[in-house]
Amino acid sequence: MPSAVDEIKARIDIVDLVTESGVQLRRSGRNYTGFCPFHENKRTPSFAVWPETGTWYCFGECGEGGDVFSFVMKKQGMDFREALEYLAEKAGVDLAAYRREPAARQAHDHLYALLEEATLFYHNLLLHSPAGAEALRYLREERGLQPETIEAFGLGYAPSGWDNTLRHFQQRGYKAEDLLAVGLVRQRQSGAGHYDTFRHRLMIPIRDVRGRVVGFGARALSAEEAAKYINSPQTALFNKSDLLYGLYEARRAIRQDRQAVIVEGYMDVIGLHQAGYRNAVAPMGTALTSSQFRLLKRFARRVVLALDPDEAGRKAILRGLDAARSLAAEDQEQQPTFNPRGFLRLESSFGLDLRVLSLPEGQDPDELVLADAARWETLLAEARPIVQYVMETLAAEEDLADPRAKAAIARRVLPLIYEVVDTVERAGYLQRLARLLDLSEEVLLTYRPQGQEAAPVRRRRSPRPSAQTARRSAPVTPRPRGVQPEALEEFVLNALYFAEEVYWQVNQMLAENQCGHLEAGDFEQALHRQAFLLLLAAQEQIETDWRAYVQQHADPYLQEAVDRWQRVPYEAVSLRDLVSQTCRTILQLRRLRVDREIDEKRRLLAAGQVSLNEFQQLASRRARIDHALAEKDMSS
Ligand code: UTP
Ligand code: MN
Repeated sequence: MPSAVDEIKARIDIVDLVTESGVQLRRSGRNYTGFCPFHENKRTPSFAVWPETGTWYCFGECGEGGDVFSFVMKKQGMDFREALEYLAEKAGVDLAAYRREPAARQAHDHLYALLEEATLFYHNLLLHSPAGAEALRYLREERGLQPETIEAFGLGYAPSGWDNTLRHFQQRGYKAEDLLAVGLVRQRQSGAGHYDTFRHRLMIPIRDVRGRVVGFGARALSAEEAAKYINSPQTALFNKSDLLYGLYEARRAIRQDRQAVIVEGYMDVIGLHQAGYRNAVAPMGTALTSSQFRLLKRFARRVVLALDPDEAGRKAILRGLDAARSLAAEDQEQQPTFNPRGFLRLESSFGLDLRVLSLPEGQDPDELVLADAARWETLLAEARPIVQYVMETLAAEEDLADPRAKAAIARRVLPLIYEVVDTVERAGYLQRLARLLDLSEEVLLTYRPQGQEAAPVRRRRSPRPSAQTARRSAPVTPRPRGVQPEALEEFVLNALYFAEEVYWQVNQMLAENQCGHLEAGDFEQALHRQAFLLLLAAQEQIETDWRAYVQQHADPYLQEAVDRWQRVPYEAVSLRDLVSQTCRTILQLRRLRVDREIDEKRRLLAAGQVSLNEFQQLASRRARIDHALAEKDMSS
């Protein structure tokens, strides 16, 4: 089904619209020209309209243009919403038929309140009930937690029995469906009814970055339980991979010295906090995702990963090194693995300084600080950049006198080094690796590992073929659906809405090619411009995850478009390919517009209305775009 915006555009003829507004247009080739209605000038017909694309542009003083919506917005001083309504009426499009009801926000408020009450319920049971005494003793004596810490994290106790929690909240007027919606109860397998999710467990409320309880982690109190921890199931409010445990409690400390530490467990966060290290957060038993780093980016510049030193952890490093997976694929993975390659990409796309802290064998951070709080300080100070950590960890395990071991290390570390964006930093690692292996840098620079098809330098990863579509030999690189400016703009937005970091990386690549950055003016379609501005706003605010922000702030007409863009299956594509293709598309758009402007100005130049200097500036702008398009980064 086409959107309301599409429908209106299909029905409104821009030439009619502009003419009706009092501008006289004359046909000239494929377009129409006339005097610009937005600035005083009765000598130069600098205003152009293209019926094919439904767009307009003023090549004179204004230097701006757009589509039917932006014409009405500018002419009548309306905002997009008003222009949409105005044109809908004119075109006979029933907006209500396209409008979808926004998510029922009130229902969510009700659920947040329930979770808040549940937190208190469990907390009171822990502190004041005979049944909670055992859990309290465990926390105090075996985990060494102070009353203030238990208070600060709102720890609690879930009663045993099958439906104590359910009945308690039913008495307070909640429905079983409410409890189900927040994961406090589950549906019985056989027969009707529900039972408590958390029974006889230590309860750890999980807050989102705004401090609202959205779920629970629950630790077993007896060793017989099959699962040491169970977490709230995925609910409308609780998405483990978008949250970091402890971030709400840690955010002030993180902001203070712009540093956060990621540890593995709930109890580590709590223990570190009690020891005065209040900048620790933890994922909840799943792999770290880019949206978690996105959260941290709001508060931190440096993020330290405190890694489990056990054998599994170390193996994971090696696995991670060998697998060249795209960041997107990474996101979907559910086992916690340390993937240096993925982290390096996160580091550059978020502008973060990522470091690795190696923990002493067999001790979790909470145990460690309980024994010796100052020790943590030392470990933190010894945290190393990822590449350095990887090369030193590998070197520690190999016999460096063995040339094959050297080759094995070089083979693994070099591709990582080439992943580093900053040239000086990259040179530094190369030097370090050369020293570590006692080889010259030249040898490393020219090293072509056997069995690998090409040098690791700027190697293009072939995207993973998606299920049915692609054959192995034909990697799918996303492309605009057409060559029309509208299709190009749409492609750029698709990419931008795919992942937050695309915007930053695109700007970085444009800047590297002396092409400034992406601007609202790159979008001629008013809807696209709106979508771009919304995206910018989403990235500038810090309260909400950007996707959630977009969901909340997009008007229904925009929502429809955003939903459509987010459905494009880019998972099969490497982020870098997507970024290159996006830059290329932006430059193609600019190129089209410069060409168009040159054509118009040529006409005005002949009439003596434009200076030669101005004309030359245009020509050099075009040359710069062409130059950038020829860069290898940019070529597809
Ligand atoms: P660990 O098994 O390392 O536990 O799990 P821990 O943090 O040291 O726990 P304590 O100290 O014995 O209490 C680390 C994290 O992995 C998740 C939890 O988030 C936990 O904090 N996890 C672990 C689960 O989600 N489920 C499990 O069964 C185990
Ligand atoms: Mn532990």
